[in-house]
Amino acid sequence: MFNPKWLSKTEIEELINNKVSDEEIARCRNHALVPVFDDVVEGTIDPGTGGTVYFKFRGQEEPVLDCTSQAWSLNLGHAPSDVNYAVALQAQRSNHVRYGYLTPVRVKLTNKLADIAPGRMQGGRIALNNLGGGGAIEAAIKTAFVNSRSGDQILTFWRGYHGSNLALTGATQQLGLAIRYRPFGIDRWMKTLFPYCFRCPFGYKNGFNGKKDPECHMECLALVKQHVENFHISGIAGAIIEPNQGAGGQIPAPVEFLVGLKQICKENKIKLIYDECQTGFGRSGKMWITEYYSELAGEDVSPDIIAATKGAAGGFPLGITIARPKLKMLSEAEEHSTYSSNPALMAASLVTIEILQKHRIPENAAKQGAKITAFLHELQQKYPQIGDIRGPGLFIGVEFVKDDGKRTPNNELVDKIIKNGLDNRILFGKSMPILKKSGEMMRNVLKIKPPLILSDEETEEICVRFEKSLKQALSDN
Ligand SMILES: Cc1ncc(COP(=O)(O)O)c(C=O)c1O
Repeated sequence: MFNPKWLSKTEIEELINNKVSDEEIARCRNHALVPVFDDVVEGTIDPGTGGTVYFKFRGQEEPVLDCTSQAWSLNLGHAPSDVNYAVALQAQRSNHVRYGYLTPVRVKLTNKLADIAPGRMQGGRIALNNLGGGGAIEAAIKTAFVNSRSGDQILTFWRGYHGSNLALTGATQQLGLAIRYRPFGIDRWMKTLFPYCFRCPFGYKNGFNGKKDPECHMECLALVKQHVENFHISGIAGAIIEPNQGAGGQIPAPVEFLVGLKQICKENKIKLIYDECQTGFGRSGKMWITEYYSELAGEDVSPDIIAATKGAAGGFPLGITIARPKLKMLSEAEEHSTYSSNPALMAASLVTIEILQKHRIPENAAKQGAKITAFLHELQQKYPQIGDIRGPGLFIGVEFVKDDGKRTPNNELVDKIIKNGLDNRILFGKSMPILKKSGEMMRNVLKIKPPLILSDEETEEICVRFEKSLKQALSDN
């Protein structure tokens, strides 16, 4: 496919081969400005054959079944060959153009995204970037400012995660002592309550699996309304919410909350932004979680703007912002970045979306996710430490509690399951730390978010290895 010019193929292969010494790794660790994990990822076990849920660590024989999709991004698995083929092909023609230029792949991708946008967002306006979720959310917020006459604050929700750049750190749940500086512009964010039905602050006890307690009167929504209408400093231009929080603990908003929030935003001329960075591109069992909620609600709950990334391009970095068709565009001065028209990333995304649609991958996520969730419910009968099981699709969170009848968060058990999981060659994730001023930490939700291409056998394997890791963790206690 390629004929190298300046170096020989052998020279290039030697530069990027997997042979790296312990000394080189130790030196690299000394040079790291950011923390790096202990294990070194060597790659897929299945090169060139269409993407796999397994990968290998350096020096370890047996591959690991990946239930993290590497920060929930590899929806088509590790090293999906169709995507890699497209990237290589496109890179041969053109691997970078300046941000204002259209390329054939950008034309096709923009039109495709406008076509697949959910509900009233269909036919909308698209911005693309190579920065991922943070970039997509910033473009969404700029769009809200440009289209709003009602202020310059943005409503965000407790336990939300929207990225770690200097501005968005203020929108993200405060990580307290973990961050040693003050984010920029914190007066521009206004925090309000996110509905966490399993731990309802209004005392309802029967909100499970992302559904509200049947007795609840949506007091949380009334509180949000109060906040919006009475307690802002300089007016609210936009509201950003993950309809189903990922990092914060796999916490789905009950559908009634989203319906009500959309109404509050409409009444107060606030542009509603859904952060679908994790949930977009099939993870929920639908292309967008917006569609899942619209189906539950029996009405279109789509927002004004969506930000997406992660599964968008088969592992390559692409951030996507979709705005409702009637919204005003951003100017060049307001939104541009050097690599934001990168054709290789767009080729990756076009192929990813084609595979998701043609091979009904979101449906597979719904099917395999339902099997895992049903299995977890069976286990819950045996293990009172399983407090709550939340989906949908392959966006699964298992909230672990102590067996004390008080739902005390069980961080320790989650840590043990993850550790045993690695011994059993399966990798699980966990929720981000929620730190209280007292120093108390909550990090008790285990995440099962594998690639969406799971086969029946692989799903079975996840269930077997999960139960084994849990049993071992409990017998350690
Ligand atoms: C819901 C959500 N929003 C935004 C982001 C930020 O994306 P990025 O890390 O690509 O900037 C993330 C990343 O984990 C996320 O999960």
